[in-house]
Amino acid sequence: ADDVTEEYLNAAISIARQSGVLVQEAFHKEKLIETKQSFADLVTQTDEAVENLIHSFFMDKFPEHKFIGEETVAKGEKCELTDAPTWIIDPVDGTTNFVHRIPEVCISIGLTINKEMEVGVIYLPMLDRMYTTRKGHGAFCNGEKLSVQKAESLNTSIVIVESGSDRNQDVIKRKMENTRKIVTNSRGIRSYGSAAFNLCRVAEGCAEAYIEYSLHIWDIAAGALLVREAGGIAIDPEGGDLDLRSRRILCASTEKIALELSQILDHLQFERD
Ligand code: IPD
Repeated sequence: ADDVTEEYLNAAISIARQSGVLVQEAFHKEKLIETKQSFADLVTQTDEAVENLIHSFFMDKFPEHKFIGEETVAKGEKCELTDAPTWIIDPVDGTTNFVHRIPEVCISIGLTINKEMEVGVIYLPMLDRMYTTRKGHGAFCNGEKLSVQKAESLNTSIVIVESGSDRNQDVIKRKMENTRKIVTNSRGIRSYGSAAFNLCRVAEGCAEAYIEYSLHIWDIAAGALLVREAGGIAIDPEGGDLDLRSRRILCASTEKIALELSQILDHLQFERD
């Protein structure tokens, strides 16, 4: 099984690099922007072009595998996670960064088998950073091994938070109250504008934790494994096992920091993916 997941990882790296060319070519050009769930939830032609490229690559190479993609689901396809090998794709994670020419833009490719995360690739084409991981084999960036930064406690930690694209006033209010509590109890907050890259930041030890409510399975499928393989933890914000479809995640370099955070947060709930 190990050789097989190595083959899957190499396939994902290869298509991530090919997709990166599409992002690089479009990055400085005028973009056609459409909105999805709210005026702040953006999609461009590049999101769709990259997703189509990745979809046909995997269907061609591994026809028996399943596929969950952000833009395919946006068009009405069901988000079905079965035991079959399933590629979970965010073609452009950080679409708002992409639109505003902020270089933290990721192509995120995760693979689950029996609903367990097995392979993860997150590629930042504008910065040429290739994050790779395979269950049981560590986490890497451009071939260099990653490890989380194990701080003593929350008050010596940097915590990544995101405002997200939901513009419901109650949701924003509750998220902001959570942010206030995190600021009160930590060294500070950061937001990189891409869930996948936020997870890379925890994995490489630049931040000790990351919390987000209302994201989606394709934002975290690759990155949660990367954090774990770098020695950190990825759980449900209430403290239970991470459920990829529950639309929320808490990552931290240590269990202590995760629990400290979990205790101060208001745990928002959303309809499952
Ligand atoms: C979004 C980004 C953002 C996060 C949102 C995601 P997208 O993904 O990851 O950082 O706050 O929750 O939806 O729409 O750019 O693929």
